[in-house]
Amino acid sequence: MTNREVDISIDFAGLRLANPVFTASGTCGYADELGDFLDINSLGGFITKSITHKPRKGNPVPRIVETDAGMLNAIGLANIGLDRFIEEKLPVIAQMSVPVFVNVAGELIEEYVAVVERLAGEKAIAGFELNISCPNVAKGGISFGRDPEQVSEITSAVRKAAGDKVLIVKLSPCVMDISVIARAAIEAGADALSLINTFTAMVVDVESRTPVLANRTGGLSGPAIKPIAVYLVNKVYREVAKEAGVPLLGLGGIRTASDALEFLIAGASAVAVGTASFIQPDAAARIVVGMRDYCRRHDVARLSDLVGSLTSK
Ligand SMILES: Cc1cc2nc3c(=O)[nH]c(=O)nc-3n(C[C@H](O)[C@H](O)[C@H](O)COP(=O)(O)O)c2cc1C
Repeated sequence: MTNREVDISIDFAGLRLANPVFTASGTCGYADELGDFLDINSLGGFITKSITHKPRKGNPVPRIVETDAGMLNAIGLANIGLDRFIEEKLPVIAQMSVPVFVNVAGELIEEYVAVVERLAGEKAIAGFELNISCPNVAKGGISFGRDPEQVSEITSAVRKAAGDKVLIVKLSPCVMDISVIARAAIEAGADALSLINTFTAMVVDVESRTPVLANRTGGLSGPAIKPIAVYLVNKVYREVAKEAGVPLLGLGGIRTASDALEFLIAGASAVAVGTASFIQPDAAARIVVGMRDYCRRHDVARLSDLVGSLTSK
């Protein structure tokens, strides 16, 4: 099939996307900041850094440390806040042709709702990703994402505020049973789920016997977490999402097209690229090319046919 055209477009929660590759929140800025290195519009979707109602300074430094196969971050949702986002970033987003999803975070449900209400009428925005899984903040963050009742409450409140925009709920891996949380989000109106956010972790400086990060702990991302992320995507796909007809956006350690394909085969309809962009800013665009090549080599006419195609040995 070397020269035959393959279809790598996907249906994602009612949207037709050119391909299944997104940027992951917090790793590619608010809009087109990586534009010198990466043609953002060649991707399937762009997810902004988390936006909160008011600006946040985030945690004290050091707030990043490399690990053997990834990194820890404890950024603590540092961001410019909603007003500056609207003033400075939205005009840039309006020039981008890639569907843009605004990642929203907060300490209170009302803060999430306030951000989504303000942005729901914006034509330039395709939807929202609800960050209820950030491990690096004292209030809000992951605490919403651990309890199915709170997941339900925040998802339905934001669902109302989001109008007809797509609502993606981002899940944490640091929970007892991720399928319980996934079900709560879907029943409360999530159109899609993204998984996973980072794992709470720690690096110790043995000379000073102190944690390397000022926040003590940070979120582990990168290749180290990929097999766990693939497992959790497959679990949620089999136990909840497939039957509910809700698409999954899989992420965690994706660097190559082969990594991304693992997630699709495990049940994700789309993938997002995070930490890899720090090493290779155009990693996401390269993955799009690599996925197309894979389809040609394997006689796959439609990439979406791979979704959930995992079979037993
Ligand atoms: C430096 C850094 C900042 C991040 N900031 C956010 C954020 O603002 N909101 C969010 O939902 N996730 C954030 N994440 C989590 C990523 O979007 C992603 O879920 C996680 O890193 C796993 O994917 P990866 O291994 O490809 O990086 C951040 C990750 C990193 C490494």
